[in-house]
Formats: sequence, C-alpha cells, structure tokens
Amino acid sequence: MKDLIIAANWKMNKTVPQSISFISDLDIRISQWKLNPKLNKLEILIFPPAISLYPMNGRSEFISLGCQNIYFEESGAYTGEIAVDMIREYSKYALIGHSERREVFSETDEEINKKIKTSLSAGLTPLLCVGETLDEREAGNTFTKINAQLKNDLSGLSSEEIEKIVFAYEPVWAIGTGKTATPEQAQEVHEFITNEINKISGKENKRMILYGGSVKPENSKELLTKKDINGALIGGASLNVDSFFAIIEKSLELV
Ligand code: 13P
Repeated sequence: MKDLIIAANWKMNKTVPQSISFISDLDIRISQWKLNPKLNKLEILIFPPAISLYPMNGRSEFISLGCQNIYFEESGAYTGEIAVDMIREYSKYALIGHSERREVFSETDEEINKKIKTSLSAGLTPLLCVGETLDEREAGNTFTKINAQLKNDLSGLSSEEIEKIVFAYEPVWAIGTGKTATPEQAQEVHEFITNEINKISGKENKRMILYGGSVKPENSKELLTKKDINGALIGGASLNVDSFFAIIEKSLELV
C-alpha cells in the first residue's frame, strides 16, 4: 500500500474548451469514489497548457493542477514567458526540466536550478524530470547522466528544500516512442535516484519519484507496484479521458 501521484502532461495539446470538458468529465468519473478513503492516497494531477490553468481552476476538488513551465525571473522584459506570480493561485506544481524543454528549448541545468528555486520560493512544488537518452543508455552512461543532472539541478538547495521536490524519471528513449522501460529497468534507476538524492541532501528519506515514458493502461500497474516508483507522468495516454481514467482506476487498487 503506497501513496501515488498520477499526473497528466498534456504538452502543447488541447484548447481551453477541450481542457474544461476533459476536467469536467474526469471529475464526474472520480467523484464515484468520494467516500472511498483510498482516494486520499492518490493525487491526480494535470499539467495543461498554461492558458487553461485559470479556466480549469476550481472545477474539481479531486484534481490538482500544475504549470508545464515557469520562468525564473519575477517579472519584466521576457517576452512569452510565464512568471510564478501569474499561475501560483491556480497551480500546485511546476514541471521543471522536462526533456523536451531541455532538448527543444535548450534549457540548461543552471536555468533548471534557478527555476526550482523560484518555484520553491513561490510555494509551488517543483516536479523535476531527469533521464538519459538512448545513446547514453547504450553507452552505459545512464547513471552518470542522471547523477550529473541531479547534482547540477539541486545545487545550493538545503535538505529541507529538497524534501519538497517531487521527481520524475523519464528515459528520453521511452517518451512518445511506445517503448516503455521494463518495470525492472525503471526500478533500478528509481532506486539509484533515491540514493543520489539522499547523498546530495545529506538525509536518508523516502522520495516521491514518478516514472514517465509511454505509460498506458496496459503497463501502468506493473510499473507502479515497484518499490521506488511512486506514480506516473503520462503524456500521450493522458490526452484521452478513457485511458487516463483507466490508469487512475488501476492505481486505486494499489494504494
Ligand atoms: P508519453 O507518455 O507520451 O511517452 O510522454 C511521457 C512524458 O513526456 C510525460 O511528461
């Protein structure tokens, strides 16, 4: 029995009306369990496009919201960016360091580190993503890569601050490819991440680490039963309310 976070990352998908209709539909389906104490052990979370945060806010008591990206400066001449002050009322989480941000938008570990600090000071929970590419895995560099990301991204943070962060392991080769890490491959890296964070923070603790990469209703349960996998960060399968709900339904059996 464990606590789980089941998170949808919609990426650049869904208009405002589509976002509202999704959350309303999902809310009705989840409300059947409102008297089930297990629901309290499951956090259901959506990262919609930023423009949908305000209109989605307050539409479900069962679903938390998060912003897919924030900027580390408070305000000013940063065209196109989103400041934490603009979304903190409608967001509990900030997704930081997703591999698409790192690769497509050339985000550096230094910027990611600043974004974590900005999120924490605004009272948002950072959800920090790390993971290796296929080349890095094949060259046997998975652990070296993840170790470097964690060290750089968490640099200068106190152990109390690190306690507040939720992590996601997203092997880049498994994102949107249909190739999922096996539960054993994922567990091995999750255990490594737990140990590395403990070393960096100087405190032995349980960490919330989600797995992301081609999670779907057919494979979610085997992944989520693994000891150090505390949730899922879902892209493609979260865009359809039936498949996202199916993953939530299966997760309820594990908490
Ligand atoms: P897919 O589930 O589409 O592989 O995406 C995973 C992901 O990037 C979630 O953040």
